[in-house]
Amino acid sequence: MPKNIYDDPDFFKNYAQLNRSIHGLEGAPEWPSLLELLPSLKNLNIADLGCGYGWFCRYVKEKGATQVMGIDVSEKMIFKAKTMTTNNAINYYIKDMEQLELQKSSFNLVYSSLTLHYIKNISELLKTIFNSLLPDGHFIFSVEHPIYTAAMQKTDWIINSNGQRSWPVNDYQREGSRIKSWLGKSVEKQHRTIGTYLNLLIQQGFTITHVEEWAPSDEQISKIPELADERERPMLLLVSTHR
Ligand SMILES: C[S@@+](CC[C@H](N)C(=O)[O-])C[C@H]1O[C@@H](n2cnc3c(N)ncnc32)[C@H](O)[C@@H]1O
Repeated sequence: MPKNIYDDPDFFKNYAQLNRSIHGLEGAPEWPSLLELLPSLKNLNIADLGCGYGWFCRYVKEKGATQVMGIDVSEKMIFKAKTMTTNNAINYYIKDMEQLELQKSSFNLVYSSLTLHYIKNISELLKTIFNSLLPDGHFIFSVEHPIYTAAMQKTDWIINSNGQRSWPVNDYQREGSRIKSWLGKSVEKQHRTIGTYLNLLIQQGFTITHVEEWAPSDEQISKIPELADERERPMLLLVSTHR
């Protein structure tokens, strides 16, 4: 077994079928909301933690970033990112964010999309990120929403006798590991409450400027009706902070 689920050949193959894998940032419905949180990217030094295929790294370089560092624990993800990237101001590294070291005072923006819910030792990581930021540097991230990560069992929607669906939000206050079924595999994620995410940021010294329990727009739902599910309960939490 590979040490990271993203290096499992079947999981990696299934992940490649997702819209966000095929179409990149445009295939991620939360991308327009994340875009609004980003500062002007010109001349910035940027790190993308859990960069996956490197879509964000290439985007920010195109928009004028000076140097971009993409980090991911998965060898397969980094290999794929490298094959999709030609610009040599983008560098990719295989590193585990559980023991990440970053150079102090070196980034204007640290970004992380849908990765922090895999990390157990988040306090230490937040400290590393905070120290790696230049004065006024930004830390912007998305995670699976705690209402989405809470349920302990592998279930998805519960269908009641009237055919109505509800989302199980049990076991919310018990933080820690959850094993979820995703893309045909059992995947370990870390559940923590909204309060924990926000308080850890505050305790570390970050100034929180925006918190969003993302939901799709009417226009997005009219184009992709399945997205209506994301209005029944929040699936994604977007947070913008600065040092
Ligand atoms: C859902 S994907 C998101 C990829 C990309 N950020 C995006 O939004 O398309 C999660 C990524 O986190 C990476 N990841 C998971 N645990 C990690 C860890 N401990 N250290 C570094 N990367 C990790 C996975 O390999 C995967 O590429």
